[in-house]
Amino acid sequence: MKTRITEMFGIEHPIIQGGMHYVGFAEMAAAVSNAGGLGIITGLTQGTPENLAKEIERCKGMTDKPFGVNLTFLPSVNTPDYPGFVKAIIDSGVKAVETAGNNPAKWLPALKEADIKVIHKCTSVRHSVKAESIGCDAVSVDGFECGGHPGEDDVPNFILLPAAAEKLKIPFVASGGMADGRSLVAALALGAEGMNMGTRFIATKEAPVHQNVKDALVKASELDTRLIMRPLRNTERVLTNAAVERLIAKEKEMGDKLSFGDIAAEVAGVYPKILRDGDMDAGGWSCGMVAGLIHDVPTVKELIDRIMAEADEIITQRLQRFRAA
Ligand SMILES: Cc1cc2nc3c(=O)[nH]c(=O)nc-3n(C[C@H](O)[C@H](O)[C@H](O)COP(=O)(O)O)c2cc1C
Repeated sequence: MKTRITEMFGIEHPIIQGGMHYVGFAEMAAAVSNAGGLGIITGLTQGTPENLAKEIERCKGMTDKPFGVNLTFLPSVNTPDYPGFVKAIIDSGVKAVETAGNNPAKWLPALKEADIKVIHKCTSVRHSVKAESIGCDAVSVDGFECGGHPGEDDVPNFILLPAAAEKLKIPFVASGGMADGRSLVAALALGAEGMNMGTRFIATKEAPVHQNVKDALVKASELDTRLIMRPLRNTERVLTNAAVERLIAKEKEMGDKLSFGDIAAEVAGVYPKILRDGDMDAGGWSCGMVAGLIHDVPTVKELIDRIMAEADEIITQRLQRFRAA
């Protein structure tokens, strides 16, 4: 399939794997890129610019297809070495960067100078328009359904995507709730030029996470996510578990008086415990409502091939049947 996104990133299928903390290692990114999508290494998960440079080299050893790096600018306890991460990306020769969180304007001149395509992830039309105005090449429009940080506006993709399409000139991918060929065709119908998936890619054979995580996704329904940290205006959609329910009880009890310190035990440093070690009650970890559409753990190639075949079937068969004779 050819879209402005496949052309921009030099990929076969308009499918991007969003950066994911403690999932976006070389194994994940290479599997997606080898299957014709755009795999993304998560920059901050690597800890230091030196380790990111090593992870990029490791990924180059696993694929000769294009892949990218995610740089997330979110509130964090210790500010990461962003200049170092940006330099590591530029020096590595990677040509795609997914930015997320705060406005990436400060880093764009250096990235553009290095001929890197920047796709910024946004949860609102106004941020998407801003991303276009500061020179981003594309945006990933992330609806309220998404795993991770959906922002504070709570606009789901059936509204957000066409609203973004009405305002944007640069191409965008639909993000949040994307799982299969139906999602891809719907995303294209609503004005996107492809889709970005997070949660769905975790339930694949190659995803470098504990089997308990994959099992939990297959078992979960669309009712099993919760929004946490809303009182701190840092809302995160997570899979529910004992720690999340405890955290939500604290949020209810403390109301406006809640501070990060009150919930640190349930959110700080929990990703390796859950995703690497499989301790599923260790804390809150990002997960989308799309968990309700995940019923198996295929290889990444099986997943992407299935998505493309299903999209083709919908476009050429199912939708054609609705046309007036
Ligand atoms: C476990 C997990 C970790 C994530 N970590 C990050 C991150 O570090 N940076 C980021 O920009 N997005 C992160 N995301 C968001 C994804 O890149 C993507 O935007 C989101 O998962 C899309 O929604 P979906 O899960 O419904 O596909 C994460 C998502 C998940 C599920």
